[in-house]
Amino acid sequence: MRPGSTDPGRRYPAAVGIRLRPGLPADYPGFERWFPMLESGDPTPSAQRWRDELCGSSTVAEFDGRAVGYCMAQVFGRDGYIRHLVVEPEARRTGAGRALLLHVASEMTAAGCSSWRLNVRDDNAPALALYASLGLQVHHACTSLRFPPALVDRLATGVRSQDVVAPDGDQISGLEERFELPTGQLASSRAHPSGLVLALLGEEVGSWGVATFEHARQGSFPFRAESEETATALLHALRRHATGPEMGVVSEDVDAFTLRLIEAGARVPFRFVHMRGPL
Ligand SMILES: CC(C)(COP(=O)(O)OP(=O)(O)OC[C@H]1O[C@@H](n2cnc3c(N)ncnc32)[C@H](O)[C@@H]1OP(=O)(O)O)[C@@H](O)C(=O)NCCC(=O)NCCS
Repeated sequence: MRPGSTDPGRRYPAAVGIRLRPGLPADYPGFERWFPMLESGDPTPSAQRWRDELCGSSTVAEFDGRAVGYCMAQVFGRDGYIRHLVVEPEARRTGAGRALLLHVASEMTAAGCSSWRLNVRDDNAPALALYASLGLQVHHACTSLRFPPALVDRLATGVRSQDVVAPDGDQISGLEERFELPTGQLASSRAHPSGLVLALLGEEVGSWGVATFEHARQGSFPFRAESEETATALLHALRRHATGPEMGVVSEDVDAFTLRLIEAGARVPFRFVHMRGPL
């Protein structure tokens, strides 16, 4: 494709001249453009959050001295987690996305990771093709659900609210193992200034579940449960922490729970898939 073409990609020569470097606080104007292209529905994190939490985990792609995209990733034990990947429309199909991922994968390997994972919308054909070409495979489907907190009051549960606990460190490790979550993900959610982790422990109530809640997003991810009953009980516990007009969960395990929420009036901003692969 010729430079200057109206095609949204290939305005830069393929893969030539892409330079990768660590993210910097000064990349915030770029991040402000890129983040909405993820179409996550989340508000763009502040400049302070970019500076304090996100830019240090990010790699930026430059073309001709201009930042054209980024990849943000985290390492959890032996698992690498790709959190964000964006290339500006004008720079797409030049190999920048693949270059970013390969670079981040080599950093993950150097950090001791043997596998990597990510979430991607199930209708995002370019990203799905890119990830599949790097050996990632769909592991399971996920549904993002958002609803007014009052909707939860209409869902009956037989589990007592006092059975929902704030798990301690050992319990958190056990929950990560049980739900195949990356090592340290729950601990990191709990350590976040606006984070919370709640759980139902199977040895007490017969079925396991764990949910995080991030006040800034009024949302829960990861939200994992072994049964509809457990999921509903966790939702009631989260509802007590909701302060906005809408709250959200990402449902990953229990189809019956997802359907129940949709029937009760929850909207589905998007569906996505969780992909995993070896490094
Ligand atoms: C997904 C995205 C990062 C890809 O970036 P990119 O720089 O265009 O990707 P690359 O040029 O490295 O392409 C690598 C491969 O991805 C696949 N691919 C990329 N764009 C594609 C498209 N429009 N259609 C089909 N396959 C596509 C191809 O397999 C391609 O290899 P090829 O060019 O040899 O055929 C970019 O499209 C983007 O930023 N999208 C918006 C944000 C987003 O959806 N991020 C992913 C969130 S999980």
